[in-house]
Amino acid sequence: MPSNSLVSGFQGGSLGGMGAEEHLAAQGELGDPAALTGRLFRDMAGALELLTVYLGERLGLYQALHADGPATSAELAARTGTTERYIREWLEHQAASGLLEVDDPAAGPLARRYGLPPGHVPVLADAGDVRYQAFGGTEIVRAARWMPQVAEAIRGGGAPPPLPWAPEGRPEFNRAVFLNLLGKQWLPAIAEVDLRLRSEPPARVADLACGTGWSSIAMAQAYPLISVDGFDLDTDAIQAARRNAEEADLSERVTFTAADASGPGVSGQYDLVMIIEALHDMSRPVDALRVARGLLRGPGCVIVADELVEDEFTAPASIEEQYHYGWSVVACLPAVMGDPDTAATGAMMRPATLRRYALEAGFQGVEILPVKAEMLRFYRLTP
Ligand SMILES: C[S@@+](CC[C@H](N)C(=O)[O-])C[C@H]1O[C@@H](n2cnc3c(N)ncnc32)[C@H](O)[C@@H]1O
Repeated sequence: MPSNSLVSGFQGGSLGGMGAEEHLAAQGELGDPAALTGRLFRDMAGALELLTVYLGERLGLYQALHADGPATSAELAARTGTTERYIREWLEHQAASGLLEVDDPAAGPLARRYGLPPGHVPVLADAGDVRYQAFGGTEIVRAARWMPQVAEAIRGGGAPPPLPWAPEGRPEFNRAVFLNLLGKQWLPAIAEVDLRLRSEPPARVADLACGTGWSSIAMAQAYPLISVDGFDLDTDAIQAARRNAEEADLSERVTFTAADASGPGVSGQYDLVMIIEALHDMSRPVDALRVARGLLRGPGCVIVADELVEDEFTAPASIEEQYHYGWSVVACLPAVMGDPDTAATGAMMRPATLRRYALEAGFQGVEILPVKAEMLRFYRLTP
């Protein structure tokens, strides 16, 4: 279960330019019932908005408005093979909420034409843009589908059954940022790693818990000499990763295997092992790090990228911390609770926790790297 997204609207670690203190002030003083009522009402409107974004993405409504321009409800229904009356309500909601614009609000309901403001295209209609956020609706719908089983697990212990892959598959929340930033900005910021990936003999990279493979593909695209082997527990994700590599014409240099990264199914000799936004999702992170250490050859290293959470618990905390905690409660922690030996990490894997895991796994060096990624912290682990 994905635990976060990389939100390019978060400038300097704040939401839409709002700092943590301002955001907390906007939420109201602790203990003020009127402020809390208002806040929960806005949260309700926001949750409903995300459900409508789910519909917009799933039915291709934003893409259709982007591809063929503004439309009436009948035109958009015809373009997308949907039902006019539903689409009319959706369009009115989107315009009322400021997601779409309408040419003439005073015109009759069937005559109004709705369009995507140009500034909203990268966020709602262009899945290749790092600012794309329409997957957020899908994330919320999938998380909500799980909640009754999560509640049962909280009562009885253990983990809820895994979320079924269908109907949406897994939202590609990291696709655009990996393709645009991982091999073009983040790895080039780690000089020794960048040099090794560019040099002969060609480097071999293991991508542990690779999900649907976009990090592996992004690295192979950025570094034409290297080969990448991706591993993930989830067989559906691995199948999707293979399809993605084929479509990117990279199947010769990028392979994917369904395997537990903390078990014996992952072997080989690698110059670099990556674990991106996944160590906290593993029930046995120390075992996985031990496996990763055993994969290294020569002066190789392990790079872990995980949530950019605060060094220590604070309350009340910033919106980013609230966001990570939210995913931790509803997805990341439940997913690892089925293993009797689970470390039960959750999404709030603070630097001290990562350091402890790395030392237990036998690493000598743990260093936080100066990589500027809005929602991730990069660590280098040396054997
Ligand atoms: C939040 S996703 C991140 C996927 C990918 N690295 C990315 O950033 O898009 C976490 C991934 O960890 C995988 N995972 C969890 N435990 C694992 C394990 N023990 N071995 C391999 N993969 C595991 C899950 O299947 C999931 O694909």
